[in-house]
Formats: sequence, C-alpha cells, structure tokens
Amino acid sequence: MCAVTVNAASSVSLEDVSVVSPRGETILNAIALRIEAGDSVALAGRSGAGKTTILRLLNGLTAPSTGRVLIDGVEMNGDLTERRRHIGTILQAPALFPHRSVYDNVATVPRLLDWPEERIREAAREMLDRLGMPLDRFGPRFPRSLSGGEQQRIGIARAMIAQPALLLCDEPFSALDPLVRRDLQDEFVGLRDRGHVTMLFVTHDLAEALRVGRRIVLIDRGEIVCDLPREAFVRSDHPLVRQFIEASRLPEI
Ligand SMILES: Nc1ncnc2c1ncn2[C@@H]1O[C@H](COP(=O)(O)OP(=O)(O)O)[C@@H](O)[C@H]1O
Ligand SMILES: [Mg+2]
Repeated sequence: MCAVTVNAASSVSLEDVSVVSPRGETILNAIALRIEAGDSVALAGRSGAGKTTILRLLNGLTAPSTGRVLIDGVEMNGDLTERRRHIGTILQAPALFPHRSVYDNVATVPRLLDWPEERIREAAREMLDRLGMPLDRFGPRFPRSLSGGEQQRIGIARAMIAQPALLLCDEPFSALDPLVRRDLQDEFVGLRDRGHVTMLFVTHDLAEALRVGRRIVLIDRGEIVCDLPREAFVRSDHPLVRQFIEASRLPEI
C-alpha cells in the first residue's frame, strides 16, 4: 500500500495586475485578488470580461503587463514546468490526448510526478469510480468513443488525480446538457471538498457560481466590480450584480 499524501492548498494573489494586448487595448485593469489557501471562488462575468485571462495569468500562459501574480507568495515567472504540475486545469472542452487511452490520459500527471504504476492505478480506480466511469470498463477506451459528458469526467479525473494545490476551471460544464451538468457539478464539489485545494472557477451561470463558489467575484470590462461571499452577493444592490441575477431568472409564464 502506498501512503496517501495530501498536498497543501495554495494561496493566490494578483497584485494590481494589468494586461494590455499587443495592440494597446486594456484587457485587465488594476486587478487585486487574493484567495486564501483552501477557499473556492467563482469568477463570473459576461463574455469578453477578462475571466480566461485571469486564469491564464495563474498558470503562467499570460504575463502581466504591470503588477504581480503570486502563488504561495512566489511570483509566476521563470521556468514553470514543475509548478504547473501542482495546478489542475479543467476547460470547457477537456482537450484529452486523442491517441491515449482513458487510463493513460488520467495517468498523465502522476507519471510526470514519478508515481509508481501501482499507486497510479489505485488512484485512477478510485477517482474514476467516484465519477461513475469504472476503470475496468472505461480505462482501455479512447476519448473519441466517449460522449461529451464522459469526456468531461475524464478531464476532471485527469486534473484532480494528483491532488493539485490549485484548481483552475474555465466554464467546464457549459457545453453539457442541464441534467449532466447538475450531476457533474455535484460530483465535482464532492471531489473538491475531499482534497485540500484552492479553486478559481469561471462560469457565466449564476446557479453554478453559487453552487461551487464560497465567494463570488464579478468582473466586467477587465475590472473587478464586486467581490463578496455568496450570501452577500445575492443581496448586493450593485447594479451589475442585480442585472446578472435578473438575467438568470426563469421567465414568468
Ligand atoms: N491575446 C490577445 N490579444 C488581444 N486581445 C485579447 C487577447 N486575449 C484576449 N483578448 C481580449 O481580451 C478580452 C478578454 O478576453 P477573455 O479573458 O478571454 O474573456 P472571457 O474569458 O471573460 O470571455 C476580450 O475582449 C478578448 O478579445
Ligand atoms: Mg473565457
């Protein structure tokens, strides 16, 4: 048996971060965002607001034009190969490796971390079981033979199997039908709560934001317009928050 090691969750800080495009347009303006270790934050806002750019700053795919991006107090620059292994990313389209089996997809990060194969298999079995995709049945299959919901489950398993210290999610369920989405949200929240992880979850779906985030950050045109615990968020009288909540209501019939 292998001892189960649990990573410590990361803290995250964006200090007065701005991002300017090569053509001189401001994409993010003076963003100040602090996430304590183990907290989960939903980042909401309309399309083009700058949500994905914030996630890209955190895995080092975009560099700030000014300001600093820190994970665990250390700036995200230089060689990030090793640091990225402790960051899990779940995207709208899971971008599975098409020529790798489900098992080999899920085993990607543990192999980079040099886990013994036996430990990988055990962790994959447990993770895939929880996600309703038993290893014996789904492990040998290839991504193209899976439905969208099944592929997304594998994307979640791949991102979470090595217990990342930071989990970045970019509208991971928005392409799924509402029933599958609901189901996956619940499983995802359960998995998140079992691992000690810090989470930043981008969504434009209010119900989803309230389900996964203890805190809601609303961003508009590259600026944070409000940053509140979810209970305070739904009661906020900020006009953009009201607009966002109104737009999410079911029509009266
Ligand atoms: N590399 C880039 N060059 C120029 N503009 C960009 C680049 N990346 C993003 N943008 C622009 O920045 C804005 C924010 O993009 P993004 O962070 O993807 O928004 P969101 O995820 O909230 O929809 C958009 O207007 C987008 O067109
Ligand atoms: Mg986006």
